[in-house]
Amino acid sequence: MATKNLSVLFVASEVEGLIKSGGLADVAKALPQALRALQQDVRLTLPAYQKMAQAAEAEVILETQLEHWPHTKYRVKQLEIVDVPVYAIECAQYFDRPEMYAENNQAYADNGERFAFFSAASLDMLPKLGFQPDIIHANDWHTGFVPYLLKHRYGATPFFAQTKSVISVHNAVFKGVFSYDELQFLPEMHTRFAPDAAVSSTHVTMLKAGVMNADKINAVSPTYAQELTTELGSHGMAVEFQSRALDLVGILNGCDYSAWNPQTDPLLPANYKANRQSMVRGKKACKRALQQHVGLQELDVAVYGMVCRLTHQKGVHYLLPILEDFLHNQVQVVIVGTGDPELAAALREVADDNPDKLAFVEAYDNELAHLVEAGSDFFVMPSEFEPCGLNQIYSMAYGTLPIVRGVGGLRDSVRDYDTDPLQATGFMFDEPYPLALLAKLQRTLLLYLQQPNEFKRVQLHAMEQDFCWKKSASQYIKLYQSALGV
Ligand code: GLC
Repeated sequence: MATKNLSVLFVASEVEGLIKSGGLADVAKALPQALRALQQDVRLTLPAYQKMAQAAEAEVILETQLEHWPHTKYRVKQLEIVDVPVYAIECAQYFDRPEMYAENNQAYADNGERFAFFSAASLDMLPKLGFQPDIIHANDWHTGFVPYLLKHRYGATPFFAQTKSVISVHNAVFKGVFSYDELQFLPEMHTRFAPDAAVSSTHVTMLKAGVMNADKINAVSPTYAQELTTELGSHGMAVEFQSRALDLVGILNGCDYSAWNPQTDPLLPANYKANRQSMVRGKKACKRALQQHVGLQELDVAVYGMVCRLTHQKGVHYLLPILEDFLHNQVQVVIVGTGDPELAAALREVADDNPDKLAFVEAYDNELAHLVEAGSDFFVMPSEFEPCGLNQIYSMAYGTLPIVRGVGGLRDSVRDYDTDPLQATGFMFDEPYPLALLAKLQRTLLLYLQQPNEFKRVQLHAMEQDFCWKKSASQYIKLYQSALGV
């Protein structure tokens, strides 16, 4: 049955192609694009950060101030990412700074106010721009006040009377915890009583404000949606997610194959496709280029890659205790990432002691990330928790077998060789222990060394998987329709 095309405002704090710090940005670019391809009128909004070069030259389409106190002045600049219109909200006092969220690992002291402002402005601008969305789609804590303000403030006006909100949870460990005092910017916080946002008598979290007030909630994978209803999986918000269980779904992220396709990837020294000869040849050329780039010897050994933020979420603390043991094998390991200074120091130490086996590149480097995906045989993702995870999906596309812990989106996207060899696309272990990871790593090496043909068969099978955004986008349309009651 044909249904009306929807208009959607997608609100995110970062968008790949404009500015990025993590996976949220990938989704914020790819999902609106996929929805557009399905004929939905989706537009994006994000803050116009100083670092966002494209915003500097963009046309100002609105110069205004918030209708509500504290009448903060702001401007809206229009740009485009692929064919999605983008409204960049410019307000020097909040966004004209060197970084998005933090400098030198120190969050900006007024982040609560900054993102409360962004959330308010993203609604305030709509009647002025004449864009009346059916759905406002918020993402993570930064935009948690969007559903809140729609319920408590804007929804009362005729313009917003039919508008519904959705919030996607990409990572519930970050909640945006602020005291009422820090949020006096919002008149709604003046009474210091906001039970649908509060976590104590003095503090609220922006994520809770979003989750309790959105019409529908989605987690970025079905398993993560379940995990959010548990105390551990939600990092302390189980009661809230349980109370919204009827409105909570899980939708697995897709893969942006326009950026992550070994056949067309311009960042690779050789392109290859999912046939044996092409894959073997292409991956070998990429392996050589990777080894050269990171200063490892150009040997025909199994290469294990890892690209991630260095945090406990990514399971670096499961890898560290067993890394040296694993390096006793004929293997090379390449780790690329920045983050926790202690984890970085520990990795540096192992790399210094094992220069011929481990290359640790302490950088956030997109180009190198592509080379690691293509040039490795295995990709290591032993996450403690993982709402969706994108690298395991990129890995499969590149014929690099992911080795993952069975949580969140990792469980939903990778099929384990030891459970179902014929359908396998990678390896999975469950126990949150370094030794469980070590056992899995050794097991993968056995396959590589002793059954090279079988290994290649699994690689090809992984490459044939299709995590296109179109599938996920159709599920989002269903979610929007259920929010609208159609
Ligand atoms: C966050 C999550 C990651 C997810 C991404 C995009 O970065 O940690 O698992 O893939 O958001 O949804």
